[in-house]
Amino acid sequence: MTGFRTLDQADVNGKRVLLRVDLNVPVGEGTVSDATRIERMAPTILEIANKGGKVILLSHFGRPKGPNGKESLKPVAAEVAHVIKRPVAFVEDCVGPQAEAATHAMRGGDILCLENTRFHAGEEKNDPAFAAALARLGDIWVNDAFSVSHRAHASTEGLGHILPAFAGRAMEAELAAFRRVLDVPQRPLAAIVGGAKVSTKLALLSNLIPRVDVLIIGGGMANTFLAAQGKRIGKSLCEHEMAQTARAILAQAAAKGCEIVLPVDAVVARKFEADAPSRVVTVDDVGTDEMVLDIGPRTIEHVVSVLARVKTLVWNGPFGAFEIEPFDTGTIEVAEAAAELTASGKIISVAGGGDTVAALNSARVTERLTYVSAAGGAFLEWLEGKPLPGVQVLQTCRG
Ligand code: 3PG
Ligand code: MG
Repeated sequence: MTGFRTLDQADVNGKRVLLRVDLNVPVGEGTVSDATRIERMAPTILEIANKGGKVILLSHFGRPKGPNGKESLKPVAAEVAHVIKRPVAFVEDCVGPQAEAATHAMRGGDILCLENTRFHAGEEKNDPAFAAALARLGDIWVNDAFSVSHRAHASTEGLGHILPAFAGRAMEAELAAFRRVLDVPQRPLAAIVGGAKVSTKLALLSNLIPRVDVLIIGGGMANTFLAAQGKRIGKSLCEHEMAQTARAILAQAAAKGCEIVLPVDAVVARKFEADAPSRVVTVDDVGTDEMVLDIGPRTIEHVVSVLARVKTLVWNGPFGAFEIEPFDTGTIEVAEAAAELTASGKIISVAGGGDTVAALNSARVTERLTYVSAAGGAFLEWLEGKPLPGVQVLQTCRG
């Protein structure tokens, strides 16, 4: 994933810079509850403003059917101002006369946020007329929103066909980190794939198996693999109808020389609730009325020993029911080991996906891993090996 222009090549001084960011952040009662994405885009905003560019922020928020107060970007723009400690003006439409007047009145270093791009149907349709209306507001387009790059929308892709296109600093860092894990990894390369369901990770697994040396399977989806191997897993979360598929995946791995690591022991309980009475059993001894809620200590030890012999790790999905204690132990202990190995220069570690980020944040390791992506769906599609339109346009269009 190279071959795109960055801010190093962009002459932004005095220019109107349409900066696509992902302001689709969690908001509760009018305030932003997690500003991670805003913190990531802040250096790009400030660099353009400090170089005399006029920063025009473009983003979607939520999945609106049309304009509505609840999905306005206004409170998010206020949070951007708070994070970057600069005034951020706001315009209640992202195209049209008001937006045109406001962008034309800007001076170098000014920052302006436009209203939710998805208030117009043309955004998601990647309608050329809507993209042209956006393009009238700017001289160049900078895409700093990897987390929406799986969408071929007007502001994430269409603009790249009309205006000179550049990657922002966060996009650049994200793509550089990804390149180090899947394109040119130091081997051995391990992947941890967790999460509830095999059915949602099929494309991802079949893309990873030929590429990685070790595949560590965790979370509810591990139960499906164990059941497919004939283990009795009681009342555990399991997609029994996926047994054939799970066996085919294991056979594919064997054929490609990809080592598979499945749990050998588990923490089981009769109830799925915090501090439910639990016990540790081997995966051959799960009671009929019990469910697997986390990996056990022998599995943790084994996973940590695998990490100690690899050079690169890509991680998507938690091991257990990390949302409730003490079933977050497996995820936390493996995360801690990955963080230590990374901090001491022994491995390169890249993680991402909504639940993964929440789990790694609660394990307090995010800062110590090489890169933790704030992308959800886009991170998954990247792991699936799918082309990402918002990245591709940066590589192919010169504007
Ligand atoms: C996200 O939060 O994953 C991105 O902003 C994309 O949002 P979407 O799934 O609504 O396109
Ligand atoms: Mg999403």
